[in-house]
Amino acid sequence: MQKDFSAAWTPVALSADLPVAYVIPARIETADVAVWRAEDGTVSAVADRCPHRGMRLSHGFVRGEALSCIYHGWRYGKTGHCLAIPAHPGLRPPEAIRVTVYRVAERDGVIWVSATEEPGEAPAHEGFTGLRSITLSATAETLAGCLNSALRHGTIDWKIDEMKARLLTTPSSEEGILLAHLLIEAGATQSQKRSASIALEALRRAAEAAVKQGEAA
Ligand code: FES
Repeated sequence: MQKDFSAAWTPVALSADLPVAYVIPARIETADVAVWRAEDGTVSAVADRCPHRGMRLSHGFVRGEALSCIYHGWRYGKTGHCLAIPAHPGLRPPEAIRVTVYRVAERDGVIWVSATEEPGEAPAHEGFTGLRSITLSATAETLAGCLNSALRHGTIDWKIDEMKARLLTTPSSEEGILLAHLLIEAGATQSQKRSASIALEALRRAAEAAVKQGEAA
């Protein structure tokens, strides 16, 4: 039987939401991370804190194969090492200047990040494709409750008008806010995609209403 490594991985974004030369903030269990796609298409994840003065690297920018800090422009490569310090153009940055790098996998249209040394393979969702991600003020348990479905490692199976769908949930980089990625069948038609998108918004309303009701009780 294949080993399940789901718990070691966090689904931080859909591939389609991280274009080339972009960086986004994300949250994994142990850290805030900056997830960025180099111009060659590869995705990297680093601690979201510049070693210089602590600026968030997710506020930075990508040029070529490097992520630059927005504050003083220190440039970091995919290995996390500082490649250049603009204020000292002749200086080769010491090896010790580096950001923590996390493991990244891009699979079935989902970007996964892990802080585990040997996380194994990222979860597979064959036959699915990412439709859209939303944020909401509710827990994954509330979402699963609204769908009357089981929650397993943040994943909830769902049926939308007879189409198989799946929600991958994880805390967002914003405190108390959940991030949910909706996957639907890879061959879905435009009309099924529209229905799924509407169903997702209805689910968000239902989950947030359930939270409010719980608070008022
Ligand atoms: S804080 Fe990042 S380069 Fe200065």
